[in-house]
Amino acid sequence: MNFRTLTMQWTGNSLILVDQRKLPHVVNYVECKSYAEVARAIKDMVVRGAPAIGATAAFGYVLGAKEAATLKNQNFIDAMKNVYGVLASTRPTAVNLFWALNRMEKCVDLSKAVDEILEDLEKEAIKIAEEDIRINKTIGTHGQSLLKDGCTVLTHCNAGALATVDYGTALGVIRAAVESGKKIKVYVDETRPYLQGARLTAWELLEIGVETILITDNMAGWVMKQGKIDAVIVGADRIAANGDVANKIGTYSVAVLSNRHGIPFYVAAPTSTIDIKIKNGSEIPIEERSHDEVTHVHGVKVAPDGVAVYNPAFDVTEHQLITAIITEKGILRPPYKENIAKLFGG
Ligand code: MRU
Repeated sequence: MNFRTLTMQWTGNSLILVDQRKLPHVVNYVECKSYAEVARAIKDMVVRGAPAIGATAAFGYVLGAKEAATLKNQNFIDAMKNVYGVLASTRPTAVNLFWALNRMEKCVDLSKAVDEILEDLEKEAIKIAEEDIRINKTIGTHGQSLLKDGCTVLTHCNAGALATVDYGTALGVIRAAVESGKKIKVYVDETRPYLQGARLTAWELLEIGVETILITDNMAGWVMKQGKIDAVIVGADRIAANGDVANKIGTYSVAVLSNRHGIPFYVAAPTSTIDIKIKNGSEIPIEERSHDEVTHVHGVKVAPDGVAVYNPAFDVTEHQLITAIITEKGILRPPYKENIAKLFGG
């Protein structure tokens, strides 16, 4: 069974990931032949973006099951618990990682022979990946109705094809609007410290022929003040039951600025990003990353030796600042608590 997009390729025995650390100037691939290599690729940001991390972990789980099936000294269930643990410990914020691993774990039917279990798991991982693309296209269809022909959008981080299995969530909305014949201009925040906006979003948008203007993060407020932005669209790493949204660091500032300037602030995400067990954003674990990402710019040290650093990779935007959350099941509007509960049958 094979599966291939720009972000990931499943060969049946390995997962090949485009190395997002090197893009856009170098298009390199990293082949993961074991679940440990998949875990390392997620941790090291070869692959990143909530839905892409989820699908990658699902394929990692398949590789782990194949390895577990060959172990002589450990039983399959114990080995799989270990596989789950290693993959789950890679990055804490994006709930899609845990969502995908739980779905894979549920798929293990111990009444079946190991070969059948492996086949089921491989089918499930491919299903997760294929579903992700369909879901993103549906998010695009819903979301594009919010964008007027000729409008200008601002986005933060990368919620495009690279952050998903394909098509993208926030960029999927822009893509769908363009595909429906609308002219859309996009301002892209560079997204310090990891520069997902400058490196990945700008590249993706140029590839699909969208007029793209790159700005540094601290320019967003002034660009809004000048009346240049009609709407903001971002992705999400985890959405709490009350609609609070964790996304790339800097998203909260953009939401506050949008609010100040009366600009609609949209979040586009699959329902697998909603963590119904978490009441509000204060419960979302926020990853902290290496200080070097702040002290260095592209490998060059810019800060003095010995300076203290704080490097949270995500922030939380309160639901009060969010105009709508675009999902594959439709566009959610306030009151989010009630509307999210309805979506989950509550
Ligand atoms: O640290 P990253 O690059 O994995 O963070 C990615 C983001 O914050 C994205 O905006 C989010 O995952 C949405 S992706 C569709």
